[in-house]
Amino acid sequence: MSERVVTMEKVVNLCKRRGFVFPSSEIYGGLISCYDYGPLGVELKRNVKEAWWRDTVSARPDVVGLDCSILMHPRVWEASGHVTNFNDPMVDCKLCKGRFRADQLEHASCPRKPSKRPGECEGELTDVRSFNLMFKTHMGPVEDSAAAVYMRPETAQGIFVNFINVVNSARAKPPFGIAQTGKSFRNEITPGNFLFRTREFEQMELEYFVKPGEDDAWYEYWQNRRMQWYTDYGIKPENLRLRAHADDELAHYAKGCADVEYNFPIGWQELEGIANRTDFDLKQHIEHSGKDLSFFDAASKERYVPYVIEPSAGADRGTLAFLVDAYDEDGPDDDRRTVLRLHPSLAPTKVAVFPLMRKAGMPEKAQEVAAMLRPLVTTAYDETRAIGRRYRRQDEVGTPLGVTVDHQTLDDDTVTLRNRDSMEQQRVAINALPALVTEKVAPPVCTTPLAPTA
Ligand code: GAP
Repeated sequence: MSERVVTMEKVVNLCKRRGFVFPSSEIYGGLISCYDYGPLGVELKRNVKEAWWRDTVSARPDVVGLDCSILMHPRVWEASGHVTNFNDPMVDCKLCKGRFRADQLEHASCPRKPSKRPGECEGELTDVRSFNLMFKTHMGPVEDSAAAVYMRPETAQGIFVNFINVVNSARAKPPFGIAQTGKSFRNEITPGNFLFRTREFEQMELEYFVKPGEDDAWYEYWQNRRMQWYTDYGIKPENLRLRAHADDELAHYAKGCADVEYNFPIGWQELEGIANRTDFDLKQHIEHSGKDLSFFDAASKERYVPYVIEPSAGADRGTLAFLVDAYDEDGPDDDRRTVLRLHPSLAPTKVAVFPLMRKAGMPEKAQEVAAMLRPLVTTAYDETRAIGRRYRRQDEVGTPLGVTVDHQTLDDDTVTLRNRDSMEQQRVAINALPALVTEKVAPPVCTTPLAPTA
């Protein structure tokens, strides 16, 4: 494998050129920090979310799913502390009117050209003030303060307010988890770096409820499990690290928090946070709703408010990390190949079928092979241009397998099966393809035990 050649610019260009990600509302000049997933991007992001769901929910006996409404009762956000505390410090430049995160001025640049650091131009900065990141909207036809609701800034609170519903309906008993994926909204002061920080994004969150006293072991367990998940799906271990928060970084409710960080082209940045949220959220909702959200363990006759371990990941940030990590260029300078070495189970298209030539019945035969594979895996068909160019087009979007119908196929019903990474080809019978292809694009098998070991 070649040396690291990836820049954010190369990834953004590839995403636009090949239909992974487009700027939102582009024909109107775009809307800052908003993006649309194109035909390949939507498949990739779905695969990332499915990989998370499979390993966090379906493959476990102790986790169930939920899909909550984005708009929730406004008192949820009072109880959670978001109305009072979900603020970032902000300053304005009196000259250019730019708005900046006061705690990130060294990374910001003002909108004037030539661009300078805020405060380093002639403009004076205002005093620091708090800016609440929640988006507010109105429910119903009357736009008064009584109708104000928030777009959820995290999916987690939907899980906490449904805790008793799930305990009663699913007969769940700690240790157990409730998982959710879905959109969240934050009016970030300085969004940027493509999909990394946007104002509308998708989260993949697990709230894992445990008996107090068992929280430390589960906190460690989920840190290991989540690190392993990224490497299972192909992230290079050297680009991943776990960083424990220092005491002065911890949220007031957290007993511990560690970030899974990825070495993006912009530097080491948070990919996911894993927090021991204690019993803070359930207790807040008990206090504000007046409802009993404690758990009664019929076996031990104990009643307690569970502690919560929360692995909270970003689906868009994760998708970006998988793209960046997979991006590679190889071959000699005069014949460079761009290749996305995505884990086959994440690749948007699993197999591309090609007739070697557009004659002698090869296209018809190749269409037959594609039609046979399509119900099993996402399958592309391409008959335009030279075969080498077609392989390159698929390499660039990460398609792990290429099937070529050639002269020999017409005699003996065999095809060549090409591997994206090694570029090696093997001759296989057409009737062996369904089993072979399915096996080669299967997701990794999770080897982490289901619970902390001793
Ligand atoms: N419930 C806990 C929670 O929301 P967080 O660290 O604020 O924790 C969790 O967010 C994850 O959501 C982050 O690690 C990141 O992957 C993703 N995320 C947060 N803000 C984001 C943004 N503005 N744009 C893209 N992803 C974001």
